[in-house]
Amino acid sequence: CGIVGYIGKRDSKDILIEGLKKLEYRGYDSAGIAVFTGNGLEIRKSKGRLAVLEEKLQGEPICGSVGIGHTRWATHGKPSDVNSHPHTDNSSKFSVVHNGIIENYLELREELSIAGHKFVSETDTEVISHLIASVYEGDIVKAVQQAVKRMRGAFALGVLTEYEPDRLVAVRYASPLVIGIGEGENFIGSDIPAILEHTRDVYILNDGEMAILTADHVELLTISGENISKEIFHVDWDLITAEKAGFDHFMLKEIHEQPKAYRDTMMGRISEDGKSITLKEIGMTAEQIRGIQKVHIVACGTAYHAGLVGKTIIEQLARIPVETDVASEYRYRNPIITEDTLVIVVSQSGETADTLAALREAKRNGARVMAITNVVGSSVAREADDVITTWAGPEIAVASTKAYTSQLIAFYLVGLYFAQTLGTRDEQYIGEVTTALLQLPEQVEALLEQAPVLKLIADSIVKHNSLFFIGRGLDFAVAQEGSLKLKEISYIHSEAYAAGELKHGTLALVEDGTPVIALVTQEELAEKTLSNIKEVKARGAHVLGVTNHSNHEEVAKSVDEVFSIPNTLALLTPALSVVPLQLLSYYASLALGHDVDKPRNLAKSVTVE
Ligand code: G6P
Repeated sequence: CGIVGYIGKRDSKDILIEGLKKLEYRGYDSAGIAVFTGNGLEIRKSKGRLAVLEEKLQGEPICGSVGIGHTRWATHGKPSDVNSHPHTDNSSKFSVVHNGIIENYLELREELSIAGHKFVSETDTEVISHLIASVYEGDIVKAVQQAVKRMRGAFALGVLTEYEPDRLVAVRYASPLVIGIGEGENFIGSDIPAILEHTRDVYILNDGEMAILTADHVELLTISGENISKEIFHVDWDLITAEKAGFDHFMLKEIHEQPKAYRDTMMGRISEDGKSITLKEIGMTAEQIRGIQKVHIVACGTAYHAGLVGKTIIEQLARIPVETDVASEYRYRNPIITEDTLVIVVSQSGETADTLAALREAKRNGARVMAITNVVGSSVAREADDVITTWAGPEIAVASTKAYTSQLIAFYLVGLYFAQTLGTRDEQYIGEVTTALLQLPEQVEALLEQAPVLKLIADSIVKHNSLFFIGRGLDFAVAQEGSLKLKEISYIHSEAYAAGELKHGTLALVEDGTPVIALVTQEELAEKTLSNIKEVKARGAHVLGVTNHSNHEEVAKSVDEVFSIPNTLALLTPALSVVPLQLLSYYASLALGHDVDKPRNLAKSVTVE
């Protein structure tokens, strides 16, 4: 989602609309603005692209010098006029725009409903405006502080009240927000591009900080009310760089957003003691889950590769047999689907034609369908029985990175949820896995710091026109994603092979200097893969071993170069081992001068067969 806000002397409507346009690259499904006019706080909002809102504003103009605006990327509640932001309360005196997710919104909504509040939308944001209204006693700053104390989750907020038309309140907690400093006017924005046209001087809020804006002043506080001071950050990026948050490409930005995507996807789904998983989105009863005889995971491209990992996760945790298939094959091969089959479709966009057709085929045959998707309200989300949303946020680069890893996180959660329902794993084990899961974001952060090493390796890889990725078990699944990533954006031919299968034919292609990237992260299979590494080395291959810290020394003895990832449970390694492969592909594409974000011949979402 995107937020923009203005307080000053100019007509805010145009500034808000222009700001929202600058956030258009993030993709959105609805937009809206709230402005103080002679008639109080007025809201215009509508489903669809910004042009639809602009058209509405022509018919129902609003004019005023204070306002907030929002472009929505649906989280709670499908894209619709009423679910669009800004939201208000029953008195229509308060208005809120919000990015993020309020984990406990159902609880708060229930409490407020009992107190007489009436809700018109399905969103978590509407709850915030009611909550603020319910605690308001003449000071909007205090009301926001009190409301925020009750909220769990991630949020960046812009808040207005008709009672105090000369103040705009902004809060940040785990969702980005910047304050733009002007002369006789000030701004808020979820992203710098939204306000860059008006000012290059900004305060970047940290978690737990808030700002109170008037036309002439910005006051910075913590959410518990202590005054803070901050250095002004001068933005010297151009608009294009600002859209990428300072990164050279969307792909690199998205690779770096993975720690946040992991955290957001886990948020509210792991109990505080770590011993249980809550997936409110799964409507299946325990009895229905016990009735699942087999699972089919169906998807395309990178999502299919996430499904390959998903197979092992569900089989290992829940002991239910799983088949993973590409959607374009599944839909035509007359698969054996019965009422006790659970079909899990995986799709970032939720619009891939083959995946959607596979979903429909599964439903026609009486299966229950669960969707793992990144887009709330997408076709796949609408047609599935249960929807697990990955909270990766909009993914813009064609080559998928954060969507893939968030899909892995979703599979871990589903696998654990089934395991706890079926009793295939006890609380202690679930606790061990959730502890390790919660460490992943920091481990990815540590991995990202190793990027320069991978850049050097990429520079040597690009001299070759063919290479291999090998691995066993989960390493093989990740190898397939690593190989796809490299092909997609560097156009270098590569193949992923099950390490033990290479000798049955493909080994003939290995010659002096052929690069082989060998993944060795699965302790139990390490020895076997090391033997396969010896086979390729004997034919002259140049081997990069990707392993974990604890195997580093051992693997280093058998390979030419080694890169290690932090130690985690074997089952969780894909969520780490894929990261160096993403970076390797990125730097290879960069070295070859290709269009990293828009590779030739490919599309982000393929809605044709
Ligand atoms: C396209 C994209 C791939 C993506 C695949 C599935 O081919 O180029 O990156 O993995 O579609 O997309 P979905 O949105 O269903 O995950």
